[in-house]
Amino acid sequence: MSFKAAKRLDGVSESATLKLNALVQAMRARGEDIVNLTAGEPDFPAPEEAKAAIRRALDENKNKYTPVAGIPEVRERIAKKTNVQQPNVVAAHGEWKASEVVVTNGGKQAIYNAAMALLNPGDEVLIPAPYWLSYPEMVKLAEGKPVVVETKAESKFKVTVEGLRKALTPKTKLLILNSPSNPTGTTYTRAEFEAIGKWLEKEAPNVWVLSDEIYDRILYGQDPFVSFLDAAPALRNRSITVNGLSKAAAMTGWRIGWTVAPAELTQAMLTLQGQSTSGINSLAQYAAVAALDLAEEKFAEMVAAFRRRRRMALEILAKAEKLKVVPPEGAFYVFLGIEAFVKPGEDSMTLSENLIREAKVAVVPGTPFGAPNWVRISIATDDDTLKKGCERLVSFFGG
Ligand SMILES: Cc1ncc(COP(=O)(O)O)c(C=O)c1O
Repeated sequence: MSFKAAKRLDGVSESATLKLNALVQAMRARGEDIVNLTAGEPDFPAPEEAKAAIRRALDENKNKYTPVAGIPEVRERIAKKTNVQQPNVVAAHGEWKASEVVVTNGGKQAIYNAAMALLNPGDEVLIPAPYWLSYPEMVKLAEGKPVVVETKAESKFKVTVEGLRKALTPKTKLLILNSPSNPTGTTYTRAEFEAIGKWLEKEAPNVWVLSDEIYDRILYGQDPFVSFLDAAPALRNRSITVNGLSKAAAMTGWRIGWTVAPAELTQAMLTLQGQSTSGINSLAQYAAVAALDLAEEKFAEMVAAFRRRRRMALEILAKAEKLKVVPPEGAFYVFLGIEAFVKPGEDSMTLSENLIREAKVAVVPGTPFGAPNWVRISIATDDDTLKKGCERLVSFFGG
């Protein structure tokens, strides 16, 4: 009997970069020197305090099941962090409570839980493009319908109220925002978030917002981080804030993420999580407590390195005149417009393959991010590798 996957997986993409990774591996095995600029995680170690905490937790046998929503110590710290980032929400509605936090297996499960608990079949989800590639796939898994809202590089890839208004229908249930963004580095200002918030308040009273804030610490401008809800506190009871320790605390493999959401939705997500994955790894939660207790200065070195590398990459890449570069305002990627180099019938997938074969640089194609004429490079790699990779790109694209 031949196997046929369940219908709910129809049209859901597997990782689009697998084929390219296989090509990089094969070429490296032949002794080729390929510069890899695909990393989606900081090249910094996890904080020592988190490492010490996980060792201690292990020694103290804190390795039993935990509450599905997470241990109280970690939920309390997450509520506190959210209250600090959302003072206007606190002023208007009171503090977020630990009971409104669910600790999840990375930011990824946080978004998945929200989609599964919120969407009914056919519900539409507005996703500004370029988007983090898992959003549409998760919406499809939840039997919702992704509705992509295009943005322009000239407007720094920011979605406008006008664009959202055009995409709104009676079936719209959710809007996903991501600032700073993967893959573009786009970071919304308070005023821009306020405008979106006002529009939602007035014209879209039944639409929820999921704000993915996983890159909150990694910013390049002068302005402090703005959490969406802080700019739109009236939406407190129809918003989900997603965050985690993967990017901002360099703890990707520890799988610590969370949702902060109104009590009823939190309860629904807990039912889902309780019957699927349960609470996350107990030891990682004790490490999370330690990481959440760290002062901002602990991460200054990492953020300074990203800032330095960003400047260096932008300086080198500026030499390739036909390459479009939108300087990122946050996160650790640079998005490159390759339209001038794409042959008819091809897109960033083909070009990325050519880059590996000819320029010996691996990048991430923009196609699965909803941007077929763009590629993403990561600056989360050491300065020498980044320099070499950018120089190869300039040679390929023409200085
Ligand atoms: C925008 C965005 N959201 C969420 C995630 C998921 O993070 P995690 O590794 O914590 O699941 C990522 C990871 O690449 C991301 O870039």
